Amino acid sequence: MNAMHGPSRQAQEQKRPNLFSGIQPSGEIHIGNYCGAIRNWTQLLDEYECIFGIVDYHAITVAYDADTMQARIREAAITNMAAGLEPGRCLLFVQSQVPEHTELAWILNTLAPMGLLGRMTQFKEKSRRNEDNINVGLFDYPVLQAADVLLYRSHAVPVGEDQIQHIEFTRDLARKFNLRFGDFFPEPNALVPKSGARIMGLDGQAKMSKSLNNYIGLIEDPDEIWNKLRPSFTDPARKRRSDPGNPLICNIYTLHENFSPPDVQKEVSQGCKSASIGCIDCKKMLFDHMMKVFDPIRERAQALEKQSELVDGFLEESATTCKRLAEETMAEVRSRIGLR
Ligand code: TYM
Repeated sequence: MNAMHGPSRQAQEQKRPNLFSGIQPSGEIHIGNYCGAIRNWTQLLDEYECIFGIVDYHAITVAYDADTMQARIREAAITNMAAGLEPGRCLLFVQSQVPEHTELAWILNTLAPMGLLGRMTQFKEKSRRNEDNINVGLFDYPVLQAADVLLYRSHAVPVGEDQIQHIEFTRDLARKFNLRFGDFFPEPNALVPKSGARIMGLDGQAKMSKSLNNYIGLIEDPDEIWNKLRPSFTDPARKRRSDPGNPLICNIYTLHENFSPPDVQKEVSQGCKSASIGCIDCKKMLFDHMMKVFDPIRERAQALEKQSELVDGFLEESATTCKRLAEETMAEVRSRIGLR
């Protein structure tokens, strides 16, 4: 549009709704993260003002190795940039660089019911897995997550299925704050992809997750990926190649739905039901299509590893902008709640 006859590009961009999402630097980024969140992030860059956080304050709520934390933060930044979070199109920053996140979390704590936090599915699951370290930070995790989102007055939060409950909780807190202190925070919506919102682990027993070691890394070596994929869990009814299978309950078919074109999905589905293809054939086809997506991401990640100035510069500039936005929000919040 001609600047003389309509809003400038900058003015148009200012009207875009705000979006926030985050990822923990708790290990290799896997294809569950990609299908549930990162792929969606890269598709929303033009529609929203996007801020993405590498949420290190969240990552310290479970046992972790302090010595390698910075390396994991860096790997998370590189993987996300390689997947499409480009400088100039969004902000990508490290949460602890903007301490206002914890300040807002403290204030939101005073509105957060303990009973509700105790019933959060992720808190219960993580408590079960970390019996010797059920700390207050783990309990408070959803409040910090709400602070991440509300600090930037976000309208949209693209996440996988497991985070819907936390976003509902964020909406509750926004509503409570607004009722008590006057309308200020938008009630953010979770944006969950139609396909890939809950990718199962290679063991077929639980959701794919960094902590369960049942994952395929997004920038993992192709040979490693094949070594993991080949023995992975499929429809248990297919004991022999001649047994017909049911693609709808097969983990590998879900991955085809995420990575293979429709004609291949159809071929695989029919071949499985009629037992004309075996599980290994099906996995080989999946592998080929996955590599079409992962090869360029891995290659970009390898290039970015050598461009530390670009990566550091992006993280620093993003943090500076986030800090400015966070300070604006906090000035208003402090004044509304009666603090100076
Ligand atoms: P994290 O690092 O555990 O997960 C990052 C994103 O990946 C999605 N995800 C999956 N999606 C599909 N299938 C899977 N197997 C799978 N595993 C993970 C998650 O749903 C998530 O979207 N609590 C957040 C981090 C966070 C955050 C925020 C998110 C902190 N503050 C504010 C949004 C807004 C988390 O789960 O990180």
